[in-house]
Amino acid sequence: MTSFHLSLDLSSANATQDLAIRIGATLQPTDVLLLEGPIGAGKTHFARSLIQSLLPVAEDVPSPTFTLVQVYETAESEIWHTDLYRLTSPDEVVELGLTDAFEEAICLVEWPDRLADLQPDNALFLSFSLGKDEGQRHLRITAKDQKWAPLFESLAQ
Ligand SMILES: Nc1ncnc2c1ncn2[C@@H]1O[C@H](COP(=O)(O)OP(=O)(O)OP(=O)(O)O)[C@@H](O)[C@H]1O
Ligand SMILES: [Mg+2]
Repeated sequence: MTSFHLSLDLSSANATQDLAIRIGATLQPTDVLLLEGPIGAGKTHFARSLIQSLLPVAEDVPSPTFTLVQVYETAESEIWHTDLYRLTSPDEVVELGLTDAFEEAICLVEWPDRLADLQPDNALFLSFSLGKDEGQRHLRITAKDQKWAPLFESLAQ
């Protein structure tokens, strides 16, 4: 059962960046964000904006399309940014160390359908879709775990 849900219109890449910064400011180690949506929907743009807002020193945040995983360090936490598009088996998720990272780090996962039943139950789900116009995206955010209640409250305002 979904406990929380919210739909947002993101009218530009900047609007997506602003939201990513707001959400990033609330994250704690062990928070997992699952970023769903078709190619070009804005998953990497969201993740990059969020990560860059948390890094103590400015750094490039490349798409992990080929490396599968990029790991960043902040004073409070590691941040794992992964793109599982090329994954062929959920076993590889364990080999990558991602299941361990779910228990310790902040994790941003693109193409989380590849996780199958390894998707953490307490994750925040962000589902991006393309809008009518070029710069427009829709976002549906859902979660089951009560730990996300304050975030949904603040985003609803
Ligand atoms: N409202 C918006 N929100 C996010 N990105 C937008 C928006 N409008 C335009 N864009 C542009 O759309 C592109 C989204 O590309 P991005 O790499 O983030 O997609 P992706 O979902 O990660 O795709 P992939 O599945 O290939 O990894 C970027 O070039 C971004 O600037
Ligand atoms: Mg991407």
